[in-house]
Amino acid sequence: MATIVEKFFDSKDALTAELSTTLEQRLVSGIEADGRAVLMVSGGSSPAPAYKHLSNLALDWEKIDVAMVDERWVDVAHEKSNEAFIKSTLLQNHGAAANFITMKNNAETAQQGSAECEAAYQQLKRPFDVTILGMGPDGHTASLFPHAGGLQQGLETSQLVCAINAIESEVTGNITERMTLTLAAIAQSKVVKLLISGEEKLAVYKAAKAGGDVNDMPLRAVLNHPTINIEVYWAP
Ligand code: 6PG
Repeated sequence: MATIVEKFFDSKDALTAELSTTLEQRLVSGIEADGRAVLMVSGGSSPAPAYKHLSNLALDWEKIDVAMVDERWVDVAHEKSNEAFIKSTLLQNHGAAANFITMKNNAETAQQGSAECEAAYQQLKRPFDVTILGMGPDGHTASLFPHAGGLQQGLETSQLVCAINAIESEVTGNITERMTLTLAAIAQSKVVKLLISGEEKLAVYKAAKAGGDVNDMPLRAVLNHPTINIEVYWAP
């Protein structure tokens, strides 16, 4: 079982305030300890206010590497691009000076682009200082989707990234081709912040934590990992 600390907040504002403070501290101490800090970022509505807050802080952004936890295999101009979301929230103001590592490259498919992506991620300092994860009502986290093509590899490989073909659902929408951090990469983080909003997802989180088939709810692989250090942030 991972080391899990659960933090429940009365409001999204309270969650954002605490998350912003701890992210700032993690980045500052990462730079102090190692000369650079690495922040792995997810898309989703939960982290957006903290990203905007962080972007306004006068950190040593040139020493911060920001990299994606997962990405749809779409151009950055696409409305569903996670990279575009990160660029419009975190990589603004002072945050614009950060070194951004993209997942998406020019390869036609995520599968074909995975070696190039892996090579870029291998350059990053490890362990990563912070990895921010979201979760879906289907029990996915990062782009480790239930029963997806590539899921087995994502859970078993020692590589940092892998291509995923998700089964189309309400959660995935029609863009099912993705790149994701692997379980092994998530495990190479000093801390994982898992952000959860609302009662429905809280019930999903509890079901995942209770155990069962990881293929049904890949979040289980993170929660059951022997060495991952997770802080769960929940707000209504
Ligand atoms: C994606 C989304 C997704 C998101 C979760 C949590 O790439 O499909 O980024 O994985 O992280 O659905 O979203 P919320 O933060 O809105 O709860």
